[in-house]
Amino acid sequence: MKTIIMTASEQGSVELAADIIKSGGLVAFPTETVYGLGGNALDATACAKIYAAKGRPSDNPLISHISDIEMLSQIVKNVPRGTFSLIDKFWPGPLTIIFPAAGGGTVGVRMPANPVATRLISLSGVPIAAPSANVSGRPSPTSARHVLADLDGKIDMILDGGRCLHGLESTVIDCTTDVPTILRPGAVTKEMIEALIGPVGLVTEAGDDAPRAPGMKYRHYAPKAKLTVVVGEQVAVSSKILQLAADITHPNFAIMAATQNQSRYASHTMLDMGQNPQEIAANLFRLLRQCDEMGLEEVFVEGVAESDLGMAIMNRLKKAASYNIIDTK
Ligand code: TXA
Ligand code: MG
Repeated sequence: MKTIIMTASEQGSVELAADIIKSGGLVAFPTETVYGLGGNALDATACAKIYAAKGRPSDNPLISHISDIEMLSQIVKNVPRGTFSLIDKFWPGPLTIIFPAAGGGTVGVRMPANPVATRLISLSGVPIAAPSANVSGRPSPTSARHVLADLDGKIDMILDGGRCLHGLESTVIDCTTDVPTILRPGAVTKEMIEALIGPVGLVTEAGDDAPRAPGMKYRHYAPKAKLTVVVGEQVAVSSKILQLAADITHPNFAIMAATQNQSRYASHTMLDMGQNPQEIAANLFRLLRQCDEMGLEEVFVEGVAESDLGMAIMNRLKKAASYNIIDTK
């Protein structure tokens, strides 16, 4: 199949994308988190095509994207009382809520804040099922270029809306249990949620009991390079990384560090993560793809403080590093 690529600002592009969704096809589209691979959520054949294009295990459920609150009743059985304030505060935005599903079981739903995504959903007139638009096991795409690299020829269309604002996938919170539980940290942070509804659970790390998010049991992206994440006080982190770099016997490595720390690492090959957690989140998946594009064998990465958005950044970094972490404390 030939994959059509159009910029979202081009006349008629979103209308064409909506026609493709309505006729059962697949469109990759920008959201404020990462690019999604969308199909009609109410069409089992379209959903099957999503699994096939991504090579996604069939028991890892898809989340549905809606453009207005009325659409919710098409997919969920009931809206637990406790979710009202979450919806009110964080939708549209990077929060996926797991509800009891209309057809039994549970379903994840999100109302994206990206205007291209919202327009696509509302022109399609149906909820759009959309996992991240990467081949299963690759980092989520934060630009149309990443989608093209993974899915060219496998999907009908890519809507190019530029780089994604947040760069990490949405926070997933399970609200089907008495105490809501965060299954995946994201830009809507635990702190923000708890300020609104009180204490919530958090299930994300390897080694936890039975995985609550089906996605947790699947292999996550790790670059071909060996990744080592170093955490602790900034000075200790830099000296540890410099020491690791000095001990290395092959030249094919790089250091991933914050913008303000780049000069600490002298003449080494550098990857610039950005100046603050927002920038680091937005750059992370692009940099992980770049490790492979550069053919690196080893990468040393500065960790970030594990609070607020840092929790989501470290969640993805730890997985990418297959939990190879050095704590300097
Ligand atoms: O930001 C995002 O959420 C992006 C954009 C495109 O919206 N989508 C995304 O979808 O990241 P996906 O499928 O790559 O990740 C959704 C996660 C998966 O880990 C999946 O296992 C989990 O949510 N999930 C989906 N439905 C679930 C359910 N009913 N119960 C528990 N976990 C669920
Ligand atoms: Mg994904």
